[in-house]
Amino acid sequence: MSTERKSNIYMSDMTISTRQPATTKATFPAVRMRRMRATSPLRGLVRETKVSVEKLIYPLFIVPGSNIKKPISSMPGIHQQSIDSMLKEVEEVAALGIKGLILFGIPEHKDDKASQAFAKSGITQEAIRAIKNSYPEMIVVADTCLCEYMDHGHCGIVSGTGIDNDESVKILVKAAISQAQAGADIIAPSDMMDGRIGAIRQGLDENGFENIPIMAYSAKFASGFYGPFREAAESAPRFGDRTSYQMDPANSREALQEIELDIAEGADIVMVKPALAYLDIIARARMITNLPIAAYNVSGEYSMIKAAAANGWIDERRVVLESLTGIFRAGADIIITYHAKDVAVWLS
Ligand code: PBG
Repeated sequence: MSTERKSNIYMSDMTISTRQPATTKATFPAVRMRRMRATSPLRGLVRETKVSVEKLIYPLFIVPGSNIKKPISSMPGIHQQSIDSMLKEVEEVAALGIKGLILFGIPEHKDDKASQAFAKSGITQEAIRAIKNSYPEMIVVADTCLCEYMDHGHCGIVSGTGIDNDESVKILVKAAISQAQAGADIIAPSDMMDGRIGAIRQGLDENGFENIPIMAYSAKFASGFYGPFREAAESAPRFGDRTSYQMDPANSREALQEIELDIAEGADIVMVKPALAYLDIIARARMITNLPIAAYNVSGEYSMIKAAAANGWIDERRVVLESLTGIFRAGADIIITYHAKDVAVWLS
C-alpha cells in the first residue's frame, strides 16, 4: 500500500510503522508488473487468495413432513425440504467435500413466544439430530434466532411497539442450549439483541457445553439483500422492520464496536453480514481481531447472480468465484454461501 494514498479508508486504523516504506524508486521500464502475469503457473505462484471448499458453509431450509422438496422461486437451486429429502442433499454435499452446514428450521406452528425455537422435538433440533446421526463428521451450525418461530416474524419478544431485549435473550439462551443438546457443533446467534453472546456462553457452559463454539452474527446490517431469504424461511416481519435491532448500513465504527463487544462476551468466530456491500467492514474487522471472521454471502447476493446468469448477462462461474475471492481477500476466513455446491463442482 503506497503512502500517497491518503484517502484510503484503512489509513486511520494503521500506525505509521505498519505502512510499507518506499523501497524502490524504480519505475517502467525497469519495473514491469506484467512479467509475473505472463503464464498460468507464474500467476498461480503469486496468487494471494484462494477459494477453497473447506472454508464454505452451505445453508439448508428444513420443514416438517416427509418427501417435501419445494423450490424457493427467488433462489434457483435452493429448496425447503423435509428431513428425509434434506438427508439426500447432505449426502451430496458431503460427497462434494463441503464440511459445514447451517440450518434454518421452519416450524409447523409459530407463536409469539417462539416455543418451537427451544422445543426438544422442534424441526431444527430434529434436523440437527438426523444429520449428526448419519454424518457425524459434518459440521452442523445452528442459526439461533427467533424470527422463524414467531408468528409476527421479529427476531425477539414483541412488547408494546418494540422488541424486549432482555426477555428475548432468555429465549435465545434456551434455544441455543436445546440446539446444543440436539448435537449442534456451532451455535450462531443471528438476532442482534444486546448481551446475547455472553448470556448464551454462560447458558452453554452451565449445561456442559463449554466446548461448543459461538459464531456470532456480530455486524448484521438491516439489509435489503435478505429479501429472498424471508421467502425461504417464511420469516418476514408482519409489521415494522428490523431497524431497531439490526445495524444501519451507513455505520462502520459501530460495526467494530459490535464485534469488540461480542469478542469480549466470548464469541469464537465473528461474522459480518451481508458480505459484498460490506467488504470494508470485513477488512477493518480483520485489523482489530485475530479471531476467525465469517462472512454471510446472503440470499439477495445469490439471487442477483442467478438472475443475471439465467439471462445470459454474466458468466455465473466467473462472477461467483470472483465474488468469493473478493470476500476472502477482504479478510474473511469462512463464507456462508448458497453457491457452495456449485463452487465445489467447479473446483473439483
Ligand atoms: C434470521 C436470519 C436472516 C438471515 C440469516 N438469519 C434474515 C433476517 O435477518 O431477516 C438472512 C440470510 C440471507 O439473506 O441469506 N435472523
